[in-house]
Amino acid sequence: MDFAIEVKELSFHYKDGTRALQNISLSLERGAKVAILGPNGSGKSTLLLHLNGIHEVQQGELTVLAKRVGKNHEKWLRSQVGLVFQDPDDQIFSNTVWEDVAFGPINQGLRGEDLNNRVNQALRQVKMEPYSHKAPYHLSYGQKKRVAVAGVLAMQPEIIVLDEPVAFLDPAAKHSLFQILDELNTQGKTIIAATHDVDLAVRWANQVIILHNGQVLAQGEPGLLTNRQLVEQADLELPTVSQIFEPFPGLCQPAMPTTLAEAQQIIRKLCSCQ
Ligand SMILES: Nc1ncnc2c1ncn2[C@@H]1O[C@H](COP(=O)(O)OP(=O)(O)O)[C@@H](O)[C@H]1O
Ligand SMILES: [Mg+2]
Repeated sequence: MDFAIEVKELSFHYKDGTRALQNISLSLERGAKVAILGPNGSGKSTLLLHLNGIHEVQQGELTVLAKRVGKNHEKWLRSQVGLVFQDPDDQIFSNTVWEDVAFGPINQGLRGEDLNNRVNQALRQVKMEPYSHKAPYHLSYGQKKRVAVAGVLAMQPEIIVLDEPVAFLDPAAKHSLFQILDELNTQGKTIIAATHDVDLAVRWANQVIILHNGQVLAQGEPGLLTNRQLVEQADLELPTVSQIFEPFPGLCQPAMPTTLAEAQQIIRKLCSCQ
C-alpha cells in the first residue's frame, strides 16, 4: 500500500504538561481525501501541526511519502506538505495578495518569470487572480481563506492539510473551496482536513480518523460514522441523514444512508412503491 502519511505511536505534550497526543498510530493512503474528526480539544490541530514540521516529533515516528521524518527534514517536509491554518489571519502577512502567495515560492528560490507563473497559477486555481494587488485585510473571510489556500498551492505540495477548513465560511464559499480541493485530489494530491462536522466528512471524505482525548478511537471508511455507539463515545453526532433514517432500519438496506443523495434514493423507491 502506498501511504502519504504513516504515524506510529506518536505522543506529544505541550510545555505546560498537557498531553495532547497519546500513542497515536495511523496510516493515510496516498491520493485519499481524509477527514480527521474529533471534538474540540481532541488533538486534531496538534496532529496536523506535526505533518508539516511545526511540531517536532517528541516520541514515536512520523513517515511522510515513505521518508521517516527526522530533525533535518523541516525544509523538505514543508515543500511536500502544505498546511492551511484554521484562521487565515494567522497565515496571511504581506501587503498584497500577490506578495503573500509569492512568499513560499521565493523561499524555495523561485524568481522572475517562474515566480510570476507559479503565483498567478495558484491565484487562478482559487479564482483570486483579479484580487492580486489588493491588501489582504480588505478581503472577506472566505476570500482570505482562498488566498491562504493559494499560498499553499504555490508551493506545489503533494499533500494538502487543512485545519477546520469550513469554519465561518458561507455555503457558497464552502462549495467553492471543496470544488478546488476535489480538483486537486483528482490531480493526485492527498487532502487531509480536520473537522468536527460529520456531515461534511461523510459527504466528502473516503477515509476517516476519529480522535478523542488525544487518542485514535477509530479509523476506516466514512460508514463508521453511522455507528451511534462510536460517535457518542467520540462526543460527535450521527450524520443528519442517518439520524432521520435511524428509527427505520428496514429502509436502511444494505447500509444506513449518510448523504442526501442516498436518502433521496430511498424516498424515491418508497414513492414508486405506493
Ligand atoms: N499551545 C498549547 N499549550 C498548551 N496546551 C495546548 C496548546 N494547544 C493546544 N493545547 C491543548 O492540547 C489539547 C489538544 O488541542 P488541539 O490539538 O488544539 O485540539 P483540537 O484541534 O482537536 O481542538 C487540548 O487539551 C488543548 O487544550
Ligand atoms: Mg483545532
